[in-house]
Amino acid sequence: MFLLFFSHNLLVCSIGGPDQFVYNGFTGANLTLDDTAFVTSDGLLILTNGTNRLKGHATYTSLLHFQSKSPNASHLLSFSTTFVFAILSEYIDLSGHGLALFIAPSKDFSTTLSYEYLGLFNMQNNGNASNHIFAIELDTVRNLNLGDIDSNHVGIDINGLDSIKAASAGYYDENSGKPMQVWVDYDAKRAELNVTIAPIQVTKPTKPLLSHHIDLSSVITELAYIGFSSSLGDMSSRHCILGWSFSLNDSAMPLNVSKLPKLPKSRLSDKHLHMVLKIVLPIASVIFMVTLVCTIFFLVWKHAKYSELQEDWEHEFGPHRFKYKVLFDATNGFSDKQLLGVGGFGRVYKGVIPTSNLDVAVKKVSHDSRQGIKEFIAEIASIGRMEHKNLVHLLGYCRRKHELLLVYEYLPNGSLDRYLHHHEVNHTLDWNTRFHIIKGVSLGLSYLHENCEKVIIHRDIKASNILLDNEMNGRLGDFGLARLYDHGTDPQTTHVVGTIGYLAPELGRTSKATPLTDVFAFGMFLLEVACGQRPIIQDTQNNHVWLVDWVLEHWARGDLIGSLDKKLGGKYDIDQASLVLKLGLLCSRPSPSSRPVMRQVVQYLDGIMPLPELSPTTPNFGTLALLQTDGFEEYAITYDVSSSSATSILESELSGGR
Ligand SMILES: Nc1ncnc2c1ncn2[C@@H]1O[C@H](COP(=O)(O)OP(=O)(O)OP(=O)(O)O)[C@@H](O)[C@H]1O
Ligand SMILES: *[C@@H]1O[C@H](CO)[C@@H](O)[C@H](O)[C@H]1NC(C)=O
Ligand SMILES: *[C@@H]1O[C@H](CO)[C@@H](O)[C@H](O)[C@H]1NC(C)=O
Ligand SMILES: *[C@@H]1O[C@H](CO)[C@@H](O)[C@H](O)[C@H]1NC(C)=O
Ligand SMILES: *[C@@H]1O[C@H](CO)[C@@H](O)[C@H](O)[C@H]1NC(C)=O
Ligand SMILES: *[C@@H]1O[C@H](CO)[C@@H](O)[C@H](O)[C@H]1NC(C)=O
Ligand SMILES: *[C@@H]1O[C@H](CO)[C@@H](O)[C@H](O)[C@H]1NC(C)=O
Ligand SMILES: *[C@@H]1O[C@H](CO)[C@@H](O)[C@H](O)[C@H]1NC(C)=O
Ligand SMILES: [Mg+2]
Repeated sequence: MFLLFFSHNLLVCSIGGPDQFVYNGFTGANLTLDDTAFVTSDGLLILTNGTNRLKGHATYTSLLHFQSKSPNASHLLSFSTTFVFAILSEYIDLSGHGLALFIAPSKDFSTTLSYEYLGLFNMQNNGNASNHIFAIELDTVRNLNLGDIDSNHVGIDINGLDSIKAASAGYYDENSGKPMQVWVDYDAKRAELNVTIAPIQVTKPTKPLLSHHIDLSSVITELAYIGFSSSLGDMSSRHCILGWSFSLNDSAMPLNVSKLPKLPKSRLSDKHLHMVLKIVLPIASVIFMVTLVCTIFFLVWKHAKYSELQEDWEHEFGPHRFKYKVLFDATNGFSDKQLLGVGGFGRVYKGVIPTSNLDVAVKKVSHDSRQGIKEFIAEIASIGRMEHKNLVHLLGYCRRKHELLLVYEYLPNGSLDRYLHHHEVNHTLDWNTRFHIIKGVSLGLSYLHENCEKVIIHRDIKASNILLDNEMNGRLGDFGLARLYDHGTDPQTTHVVGTIGYLAPELGRTSKATPLTDVFAFGMFLLEVACGQRPIIQDTQNNHVWLVDWVLEHWARGDLIGSLDKKLGGKYDIDQASLVLKLGLLCSRPSPSSRPVMRQVVQYLDGIMPLPELSPTTPNFGTLALLQTDGFEEYAITYDVSSSSATSILESELSGGR
């Protein structure tokens, strides 16, 4: 309670006797208010509240002695006053009429007009000398009847609104809605009246806006009231006074700008609101519609860009699924810079999964048929669960329309074929590394054949599908992928998928992949690694020669070791080398029943079991040669490669000369 009282006192701060007062805000001020005038709770004096054709007055309650009180000579006293006002206009540049500081013998203005004469006069008494009214008008509407110089001026009025002296408010834009300060100083001895105006932040200018010689002694009565008057015409605006200081026979005490009440935010009138609705609303709604359309377009585009395909049966493989967007971002939008290689099934990109910083290889396989995909995913998911150090780990997959994405761990050393056949890799593998890789791959394949819950056939064993990890372990990749293209159950569309040269001859008759067809390909792979040659050698006369026959020839000449890769530079373990060559021949025997199974292959390589006694003349080796007598083309035709996808694989293998 005490605090509240104290703060009010500070705000009002009225000092001195009845001849002097300072109001920094009008809370508790000695004012007589009429009509629309009122003081807000903040202490702001509002003369007109915005309703058209109304007037309002605020008069200092006490009568003031403007004439000296000495008994024989009565003469007018000097006076000085300053106030801060603001005109809050609903429309910029247009405000109704204006306001005036007045000194008048009466504070009853009931007979004055509300829409003209600033609420000080009416048609009858305007200009009548018996009014004894002195006023400083701050007019905002030009009134030609009254001889106003412009619509924004300061004038000195004696007994009527026909200003005896006026000046344009000029750069003192009193209409801006910003508070302005006015000083009115009258020197009675010199009969000089100065009116000065400035924005509130500015100290009082030395040069007044108006300076006029006038004797007010016949105008101002001995006892008079001082106050403000305001009226509104057809424009609605609010005329406010923020602070006021007055002094008789002395200069007015300065106002404290920091104590003045704050102006309210300009309220929107209905008309203004209407204008807003008429102009702003259509623009806003157009912008809104455009934004909406763009957003929908963007969402649809984004949906199409990252859309995926998911079917009910896939739920159990949920944890293995990757979001397409994740893979898209991981590979920089499958940019060519990230391309690791292009194979028979699609392109392989290197990527980094953003969340885990994991290096991956993403294989994009195009597939149009739904056939086989369910089995394929079931198969790879089960392999993903069992980790073997000689298998390329499948981390997951993603499906889109016409597209299957397989996410493998990334192996920085790439595929084995690059070391064997591509001259751009300077680094040739020494024998120990080759033997280590061979053993690893045999373990991986034997794991697929025997250790999984069900037999998994790789179907595409070859050097390019053996990837090398940091320790140069051979790892089998791309297992089971050929299944996607294998519609082997339908006799009408029988065809074989795999890579020519690695395809077992019985595939041509049955087109049914078995573990033993994998063994055949593995045999080819053994010879490929040992000899550093592809399964089909293109000799100088452009004839196709089978690597198997080439090795057999060497053996028959008693120079089996002579078929070894020249790049080894003669450095090899002779026992291991002949073991690998013989095992390669054994595995790639034309008759499936005479091939070993992978478990046995592992044992031969480990030396746990000795190889069966073999010689180049052992009958079973000759069959392939027999088959080969009619030439390579015959062999290819035997395989009835009818499907387009299979053909493209075979063709690319041939024309690539790999
Ligand atoms: N996980 C991986 N890490 C590193 N490089 C890889 C990985 N997978 C594939 N690559 C690279 O991408 C190339 C293309 O592989 P892809 O499997 O598509 O072709 P391919 O093995 O030559 O033929 P196929 O389609 O018959 O498997 C490979 O030669 C290999 O260099
Ligand atoms: C108001 O006027 C009365 C007498 O006229 C005086 O006693 C009082 O102090 C004045 N109050 C203020 C705040 O000026
Ligand atoms: C202004 O005051 C008049 C008279 O007191 C009142 O009728 C009118 O509603 C007021 N207008 C506003 C906008 O407050
Ligand atoms: C006016 O002020 C002067 C000097 O400041 C002083 O001499 C004089 O008495 C004052 N008159 C009245 C009526 O206060
Ligand atoms: C007042 O009048 C008396 C005589 O009537 C005169 O003597 C005196 O000087 C006058 N005082 C002043 C201040 O003029
Ligand atoms: C001035 O006003 C007085 C009193 O109201 C009146 O008697 C007189 O006729 C008026 N004069 C003019 C010129 O209107
Ligand atoms: C009016 O302004 C002039 C010019 O700046 C100045 O010389 C004079 O003293 C002022 N008069 C009053 C009463 O302030
Ligand atoms: C103005 O008021 C503020 C706070 O009320 C005060 O700190 C400051 O001293 C005052 N300034 C003047 C010049 O009186
Ligand atoms: Mg591959």
